Amino acid sequence: MNTASHTAFWDKLWALVGGVSVRTKILGIILALTVILGLGITWQVRAVMTRVFVAELGQRGLSVVSDLAARSIDPILLNDNFAVHQLLSDTVANHPDALYAFVLDNEGRVLAHTFGASGFPLALLDLESEVYGASESKRRIQHRIYSSNQGIVHDFSAPIFDGRSGVVRLGLTENRLSGIVNAMTGQMLLTTIVVALVGIAAASFLTWLLTRPILALVDTTHQVGKGDLSARAPHWADDEIGALADAFNAMAENLETSRQAIAEKDMARTQLLEQLITAQEEERKRIARELHDDVGQALTSLLVGMKVAGQLESAAEMRAKSEEMRTFAAETLEQVRLLSRQLRPSVLDDLGLAAALNRYAEEFRQRHPQFAVDLHFDLAGRLPPTVETTLYRIVQEAMTNAARHSGGGAVSVLLTRHDGHVRAIVEDDGQGFDVEGARRAGRSVGLHGMAERAELVGGHLEIESGGDGTAVYVEVTL
Ligand SMILES: Nc1ncnc2c1ncn2[C@@H]1O[C@H](COP(=O)(O)OP(=O)(O)OP(=O)(O)O)[C@@H](O)[C@H]1O
Ligand SMILES: [Mg+2]
Repeated sequence: MNTASHTAFWDKLWALVGGVSVRTKILGIILALTVILGLGITWQVRAVMTRVFVAELGQRGLSVVSDLAARSIDPILLNDNFAVHQLLSDTVANHPDALYAFVLDNEGRVLAHTFGASGFPLALLDLESEVYGASESKRRIQHRIYSSNQGIVHDFSAPIFDGRSGVVRLGLTENRLSGIVNAMTGQMLLTTIVVALVGIAAASFLTWLLTRPILALVDTTHQVGKGDLSARAPHWADDEIGALADAFNAMAENLETSRQAIAEKDMARTQLLEQLITAQEEERKRIARELHDDVGQALTSLLVGMKVAGQLESAAEMRAKSEEMRTFAAETLEQVRLLSRQLRPSVLDDLGLAAALNRYAEEFRQRHPQFAVDLHFDLAGRLPPTVETTLYRIVQEAMTNAARHSGGGAVSVLLTRHDGHVRAIVEDDGQGFDVEGARRAGRSVGLHGMAERAELVGGHLEIESGGDGTAVYVEVTL
């Protein structure tokens, strides 16, 4: 067999063996082992028993035939053929394996035999001349085996009176002993079949016990595969399969948790988007209102003032009016500046994050005079614009939250940069809050907005809150 066909053979065999169920495999193994063991032992015992029986039969034949030879000397010398016949008949009757016995005189004539009415089979004499022909052998006890229509026959011959008074012969058949061996073989084969049946029953039960948790696991896997992440595999026992079921369940649980997290995030993002759009509209409304109410009003007043000034006659009155209008214009300019700063702090673009946050802190102090604000920066130069904007907005939101919700009296901001990371920490000393609860409540645009902004620049945001305050940590890799 060359290598290619060798591999093909194993492939085929493996496909055949691998294709059947575990149950069939185990049943096959048990059945094969039982049958091989049963047949092997039966064959072995049969061979040994046959050998022992045949040897024993030979021993027995030799001793009986020599006994016959000794006991027939006297009747033969006395020419008492009847007594010889009687001796032969008794011997054959007392030995269950004896088939025949006869005595030949010196000339080879039959003196007495046990064949009865059917007569003496002359073929036996052929055997006589064939095997015992040599006069030399007439002086020794002989054992010869031949097969006849009555089965295998052991023929023994013994010289009478050292061969001077003829020969006595005895035929023993193996039939009875073969019968015993056959009966025993049948018994053992029956036992093998019973053991095989019991083995099959035990193996069936065992494989049912073994495959039940595996099939349950397969079932659960299908359910999970179809999207039912709440499906769990039953834990039948503390063995390897039990461990597998536990591991599978842990995996399904993780899947379920992460799917929930994704769903929550998705929902929050949608809400964020909606609220961002609303906030944008609100912002536009506010700017439009401020432009209309404040700047529009101021410019209208300026127009009116200019008209009045044009009609004034005294120079002193005109100076006073123009002074009044200058103050008015200056106020209006300040309002426009504030408005533009609120829209986008240009200082962030021009001077960087630290300066922008310093300015924001100023405004914060003005708005919340009861709050102590503490700033620490260790930034060493500018950061990428997107990171600056992100950190600015996050710190802004965290400070606003501290002022609005914490109920504390101080907020501190720490910005550091090292090894390509920027980290911002905003801490207050308020009463804290349930972060997960607020997030899950869904309406917390501020909290989600902070996290989203951090993620957008590849950063990471965490909020720790407890009885002694809240800390917001952001870390962005540059
Ligand atoms: N520093 C804080 N101390 C105590 N509670 C806080 C703090 N920050 C947030 N919270 C709580 O978390 C909730 C959610 O905050 P979030 O910033 O998302 O919303 P908001 O500030 O109420 O509204 P906005 O969307 O305008 O920011 C707040 O309503 C508040 O109850
Ligand atoms: Mg907020």
